[in-house]
Amino acid sequence: MRKKFVAGNWKMHGNLAHNQELLEAVLKNTANMRQSEIAVCVPFPYLSAVQDLLRNTHVKWGAQTVSEHDKGAYTGEVSTEMLSDFGCKYVIVGHSERRVIYGESSQTVALKYLAAQRAGLIPILCIGETLEQREAQITEQVVGEQLNAIVETAGAESLMKSVVAYEPVWAIGTGKTATPQQAQEVHEFIRKSIADYNKKIASEITIIYGGSVKANNADELFAMKDIDGGLIGGASLIAEDFVAICEAAQN
Ligand code: PGA
Repeated sequence: MRKKFVAGNWKMHGNLAHNQELLEAVLKNTANMRQSEIAVCVPFPYLSAVQDLLRNTHVKWGAQTVSEHDKGAYTGEVSTEMLSDFGCKYVIVGHSERRVIYGESSQTVALKYLAAQRAGLIPILCIGETLEQREAQITEQVVGEQLNAIVETAGAESLMKSVVAYEPVWAIGTGKTATPQQAQEVHEFIRKSIADYNKKIASEITIIYGGSVKANNADELFAMKDIDGGLIGGASLIAEDFVAICEAAQN
């Protein structure tokens, strides 16, 4: 049985006071939810404060991107070692906002994924198609290629120590969620693709769904056979909503 996983992706939101209020409410109201793993991926400047709030609790934390380089003259970048210094367990790599707005290629994403694993961090690898690609019926091809870039660079075995997040780009921040069936279809495709490399990893890997997951749709998404939880953007900023989504992952 795979354990469900719910991760918040705060994106570029928050401030010290709001973060503290949010996390205190999440800690308090998810204290008995031990059936699933809960994490928050926060902006870099807040890692230290988040570490102080979450240390020795059931809620883990991480970052939203990381440099593919271990160290050096890369002004403005943050290394995996720095994330480890602040107790991160996870780091998101390949979020579509990074791919689209900051031009990260699948190759760069693969190098970031590799760097994360080298440092003992668990990459949350985001993959997903745009609306045009879905309409052109090339979703599987796109998602397959994004996954393949990782396998070619880091090897199939590396998937054992990662989380995959299927995030259709058209569903992110739009309020337009994939139906549970649409999401399940792609999750099943991802799991089957991984099974072609390694059956054991395919059956054990956590594959979460992201894209307008809300308190009122989490239940039916998480009930699907190959959906092991969610990567939550907007709704992770509101304690009540995030807690309700964590609750949905208990079943
Ligand atoms: P959303 O974002 O829940 O606000 O759609 C999800 C994500 O981008 O990870």
